[in-house]
Amino acid sequence: MAPEGYAVASAPEDADVILINTCTVREKSRVKVLSAIGRYAKLKASNPGLILGVAGCVAQQEGEELLRASDALDLVLGPDHIGDLPALVHEARRRRQVQVGHLDVEQYRFLGAATHGGEGRGPTALVTIQKGCDNHCSYCVVPQVRGPEVRRPLDDIVQEVKGLVDSGVVEVTLIGQNVNSYTGHRGASSDFVDLLRSVDAVDGLQRVRFTTSHPKDFTEGLARAFAELPTLCPWLHLPVQCGSSRVLERMNRGYTREHYLGLVQLVRRHCPEVTLGTDIIVGYPGESEEDFLETVSLLEQVQYDTVYSFKYSVRPETAAAELDDDVPEADKSRRLRTLQARQDEITSARLTRFQGETVTALVEGPSRRGLPQLSGRGPGNHVVNFEQPAGAPDLVGRLVPVTITRTGGHSLTGELAELVD
Ligand code: 5AD
Ligand code: SF4
Repeated sequence: MAPEGYAVASAPEDADVILINTCTVREKSRVKVLSAIGRYAKLKASNPGLILGVAGCVAQQEGEELLRASDALDLVLGPDHIGDLPALVHEARRRRQVQVGHLDVEQYRFLGAATHGGEGRGPTALVTIQKGCDNHCSYCVVPQVRGPEVRRPLDDIVQEVKGLVDSGVVEVTLIGQNVNSYTGHRGASSDFVDLLRSVDAVDGLQRVRFTTSHPKDFTEGLARAFAELPTLCPWLHLPVQCGSSRVLERMNRGYTREHYLGLVQLVRRHCPEVTLGTDIIVGYPGESEEDFLETVSLLEQVQYDTVYSFKYSVRPETAAAELDDDVPEADKSRRLRTLQARQDEITSARLTRFQGETVTALVEGPSRRGLPQLSGRGPGNHVVNFEQPAGAPDLVGRLVPVTITRTGGHSLTGELAELVD
């Protein structure tokens, strides 16, 4: 929107366009969207020219339905059409617009991170390398709403990373639903490790991360890349979903508990300091107390640094929607609480390994507490807070050594190890 002359408004009351971006991985999103539309629709009384839109996967799923549900809505736009946003906003001033449906390899245009940053961009950027998903995890609505996998050409990705580095970016995260099934574009023979190698070779780039990867597509070559590629950060988000092989099979994940644990060992062999994260679903149909306890024991065995955990929620048109959602809500809640409490202990205990160590932080800006405290990220993606010494130059965007003096529940605090000029 910026090339069209738009800028970010400081409050909804000041906006000419309000776009509600949505996710539908778990339920309740439709209800939340409708209440957000209701809230912003009131602003039309004092600002009749206001364009109100819904974007993202709820838009994709509901389409025309959303226009029927609210007269105040001007625009419904699925994720594949975000590149058409300026034109659609323009058209919506004349007539209500709906643009949903999937675009294929020939039609889909990857929006460069460079187009949504510009001035004031921080030192980090997200770079999309593929969209959609060809897997069939039984519980998941993503393949329906995002469509089949479309991979961005390797050269295109490398060009974008070069452009970002030229504009001051030092760290990129390659993103997609399933990045490690990357095969290049239109049957090109490159794989995800080739892509990592090409990005690693970009002059001036300091750090690369990627997310999300799938255990069933995780190769020994990818584990080795952590040791071989200087820019690849020791950080891996590898969703396991559940610790019981019986449930994993019913989720159609394509691996067992044992195979997953083997991967963790493999990665740690090549990269002992790796920070590991995962996603967990509790209360999948038919999950017994024993299955759940296997998930807890997996967390204890792996010793993750971060875990995102969710109660199973039924999504329309998924294979699991045919099953009886038979784990009582109270049990789902209890399992989630038990798991999160145990993981909080593990997360805090894991952080203590940094006590007294010097960590290289990429400084992103003021911390949550505000200046003079600054906040950055270590190689393992931990938040690292430290005080900006009086008279120090602007450190934002720089890699600085911080000696850790305190470890909290989810972050590290320390002091600049040496004065940088
Ligand atoms: N219910 C609960 N959690 C889900 N996820 C995906 N689908 C569902 C669902 N139906 C979680 C998975 C995935 C993360 C992005 O969202 O753990 O890895
Ligand atoms: Fe959903 Fe599975 Fe694809 Fe992840 S890999 S987006 S959980 S279908």
